[in-house]
Amino acid sequence: MSAASTSVKIGDNSQEMPVKSGTVGPSVIDISKLYAQTGMFTYDPGFTSTAACESKITYIDGDEGVLLYRGFPIEQLAEHGDFLETCYLLLYGELPTAAQKSDFDYRVTRHTMVHDQMQRFFQGFRRDAHPMAVMVAAVGALSAFYHDSTDITDAHQRMIASMRMIAKVPTLAAMAYKYHIGQPFVYPLNELDYTSNFLRMCFAVPAEDYKVNQVLSRALDRIFILHADHEQNASTSTVRLAGSSGANPFACIAAGIACLWGPAHGGANEAALKMLEEIGHVDNIPKFIAKAKDKNDPFRLMGFGHRVYKNYDPRAKIMQKTAHEVLAELGIKDDPLLDIAIELERIALHDEYFIEKKLYPNVDFYSGITLKAMGFPTEMFTVLFAVARTVGWIAQWKEMIEDPSQKIGRPRQLYTGATRREYTTTAQRR
Ligand code: ACO
Repeated sequence: MSAASTSVKIGDNSQEMPVKSGTVGPSVIDISKLYAQTGMFTYDPGFTSTAACESKITYIDGDEGVLLYRGFPIEQLAEHGDFLETCYLLLYGELPTAAQKSDFDYRVTRHTMVHDQMQRFFQGFRRDAHPMAVMVAAVGALSAFYHDSTDITDAHQRMIASMRMIAKVPTLAAMAYKYHIGQPFVYPLNELDYTSNFLRMCFAVPAEDYKVNQVLSRALDRIFILHADHEQNASTSTVRLAGSSGANPFACIAAGIACLWGPAHGGANEAALKMLEEIGHVDNIPKFIAKAKDKNDPFRLMGFGHRVYKNYDPRAKIMQKTAHEVLAELGIKDDPLLDIAIELERIALHDEYFIEKKLYPNVDFYSGITLKAMGFPTEMFTVLFAVARTVGWIAQWKEMIEDPSQKIGRPRQLYTGATRREYTTTAQRR
């Protein structure tokens, strides 16, 4: 990182502010001394112009539609790699050698079982609980089970906690699903790869053998790769902020899951599918496009638009291809929802409103159709996103803990409430 400076004029005073440049992407003005020097804060709701940290993990060029994990384009990783290789890359910074990969796979696989007491934890929930509600609680509860990996100052314990989360979150996700539909939990099977094992834990039943469909397993693995990290998005920033206080790593990931659940973030794939179902027929698309453009109507096209991508989301292209592969494998020739999605995308990409605002399909636009075809109910979509994003959260959390300049996150505010006033008793209040 090279250093320079820029002069910023505030009122009558000019302040010299350091400018830091990364390897690629916009430089940043270091305003960390701004308050001390001027008595003013910066104001940036939603952090649209604020770099909250320095990171070496993921790079996005939203204008060009580029996504790199540790420098590698998402298209290449999704085409040639597998999810655990991506996990290794995000955690350690390099692609593994064959020996490192098999050691990593072995270690993750050997951590997939959860403490048997966790089963009772699930039983405290109503069956109709949303699986994301269960996930927030279950992943948070891991902090009460693994006391030997919660000293965040110990690099070895940090790595064990990381392995445990990558390995156990899918097990908990499958348990949340099984509990929801009233089927018995399925234990992990070590002879299977990560994603095949997850599919089996979700869809196998004790009454018959379960054979993993390799096309579906590969497709889900690719979906996991696409969702593994996305730099400082809302849930990742939540994990970093929670972790900045030195909080328990499992609790930090639970905080990330809670944030991911929102419809503007990870909940969008569920919302996108519901929207396609609501549209119901291609003939109804113009009505929904008009609603999305109406300033007085809160409706938005779900799966469209992105805070960072002002171009086609590179993940959406891969996701669209994956949707076609999965539907072909399952022999679904005419999927009305896919027809609506393709037509909606076509119309929106030619509509002045969407062109002008640079609103393109995001990764969630096609993921719902794909996951539904695989047999997952909509409530599970965000859970699957959480399974994939766990590694990104962990890599970012680790990077933060290992950063010597790390301090507790503590934003400031522009206060617009009442100024000082005196307390009155209830008898005095009118
Ligand atoms: N449909 C219609 N109009 C939209 C949409 C949309 N999906 N998204 C943005 N706009 C419009 C806004 O109304 C706004 O118009 P205005 O300038 O006239 O007021 C303009 O585009 C900019 O929108 P903002 O909300 O300011 O953009 P921001 O960057 O804050 O929002 C977001 C990004 C939240 C993703 C937004 O595009 C959205 O709500 N999309 C739908 C939900 C969705 O798909 N989320 C998934 C994100 S990807 C992920 O989490 C994996």
